[in-house]
Amino acid sequence: MRVLILSLFVISSVYASEKQALGQIKKLGMSLKSELQKGMKKSPIDALKACNIQAPIIQEKVSTSNIKVGRVSLKNRNPNNTPKPWMKSYIQDFHQGKIKKGYVVVSLEGKRKGILKPIKTMPLCLKCHGSDIDPKLAQEIGKRYPSDKAKGYKLGQIRGFFWAEFE
Ligand code: HEC
Repeated sequence: MRVLILSLFVISSVYASEKQALGQIKKLGMSLKSELQKGMKKSPIDALKACNIQAPIIQEKVSTSNIKVGRVSLKNRNPNNTPKPWMKSYIQDFHQGKIKKGYVVVSLEGKRKGILKPIKTMPLCLKCHGSDIDPKLAQEIGKRYPSDKAKGYKLGQIRGFFWAEFE
């Protein structure tokens, strides 16, 4: 009985941290979206500036001492959003449709775990990540991100991934 209770406790605490990490990912997504929408109310260039300044700050704010969160893409705009080694094969599998789940949880070194959750390209995203970007906006993107790869996306494609690392 004691073993059963103990193992139930261990299992539920494992799920608790996974749930928490997913919660932080959701928070990150919602904060970024609200920043983007606030900017878009003025203009796409305002939204771009807001994203440029706020995205790294929001990512830092939403991370806790135990749960780190962020975004990555194989075709990233910000060089800091390059996938880490543990992410690469899962990212390929998502792109090739081999993983159909909404997210994966992966064991990392020690007790640490990683989560990857794909982000789909929606109509709004095409303004800054599509193949027909307004020339002025494209110029502003180029100024801030000279090695930008995050263009040419089509509706419904996976634009990138939210990730979390936690214990
Ligand atoms: C106003 C322009 C703009 C719009 C609209 C926009 N993005 Fe971005 N996106 C950016 C910028 C700028 C960055 C780089 C942010 C940074 O410096 O961290 C970025 C980065 C990202 C990243 C992180 C990986 C990378 O490429 O660096 C993802 C994922 C992403 N965008 C997804 C989306 C999705 C999904 C949408 C639609 C809901 C969207 N974006 C709409 C400008 C935009």
